[in-house]
Amino acid sequence: MAMSQPVPPIDFDAIPPSALPQLLRRMPKAELHIHIEGSLEPELIFELARRNGVSLPYPSIEALRAAYAFQDLQSFLDIYYAGASVLILEQDFFDMAWAYLQRAAGDGVVRAEIFFDPQTHTARGVAMGTVIRGLSEALAKGRRELGLSADLILCFLRHLSEEDAFATLEEALPFREHVIGVGLDSSELGHPPEKFARVFARCRELELHVVAHAGEEGPAAYIHSALDILKVERIDHGVRCLEDPALVARLARECIPLTVCPFSNVKLRVFPGLPSHNLPTLLKAGLAATINSDDPAYFGGYLLQNFQETFDALPELGAREAWLLAQNSLQGSFAPEADKMRWCVELDAVFREKTTPSSGK
Ligand code: HPA
Ligand code: ZN
Repeated sequence: MAMSQPVPPIDFDAIPPSALPQLLRRMPKAELHIHIEGSLEPELIFELARRNGVSLPYPSIEALRAAYAFQDLQSFLDIYYAGASVLILEQDFFDMAWAYLQRAAGDGVVRAEIFFDPQTHTARGVAMGTVIRGLSEALAKGRRELGLSADLILCFLRHLSEEDAFATLEEALPFREHVIGVGLDSSELGHPPEKFARVFARCRELELHVVAHAGEEGPAAYIHSALDILKVERIDHGVRCLEDPALVARLARECIPLTVCPFSNVKLRVFPGLPSHNLPTLLKAGLAATINSDDPAYFGGYLLQNFQETFDALPELGAREAWLLAQNSLQGSFAPEADKMRWCVELDAVFREKTTPSSGK
């Protein structure tokens, strides 16, 4: 077998800071933490309310947007679930997901692993098939027309019972081929991962990928139990891990990706502002942190804007960290290995191009 030439490392120091905005846009990246219901823009909420004859407690788009001032996770969730009430028909789910995918493609996203909350819809009498078919059709169109690789992750609402989660899993099984994994979201405090031990065990038997929100508002202990009891492959948020040095060492050793969401953390007051976000510390600790938008319609922006403003606010973040965050996202995704390898090669090429002074692109 022919040996390939060793590739020299990327010389990040030879990348001028002025190249950073363009690198952030152009670098291929994966979004691993996006709730599709959190991409529902006020304009689409009003349009769907009109189409479906749903009355909203806000007189205008502006009034709804003005209500997006949150004190904590629960105050956000109350308004987020209310917004989702306009989603009734397959077409509505399609329109919401298609709008997100177009924005994501524009932000340089090559892979999206998209959360959806079926219980929010089935509890209102919307059939599981309506939700999954509408979303899946949009993802198929995204693959065909945008070249964007995307899959669905079904999230259980942790404020509901494990029995409810089991019933939701049963309802989703006829659509197994459209779902690559399960997650755990909604109100974290008081609803530890332990509550869902059996349903996650069943999901693992079904060879679904498993992830969970942990350590957003909840303590580092929830991250430990998500790993030990749910046996998750990634931690969503996880920013409170720094409170426990042994946990940090474990996350680094086991290469567990953390899907960090900077705008979300500021809007839900996990940090007072982007300049005090712990992302640089997570990276310095050797953790496989990534940047994600969480609920972009509610928190002020999509993935690229999360990258840009986070980098603007934190001087420790430069070209090396941009590359690392993109690499972590691609490697931490559940995409086929061949796709990951191809994207990583493209990622390196985008950065190498910027180390040559002659490239003015
Ligand atoms: N945390 C928990 N549940 C959620 C979130 C979040 O950030 N976004 C949507 N559901
Ligand atoms: Zn989330």
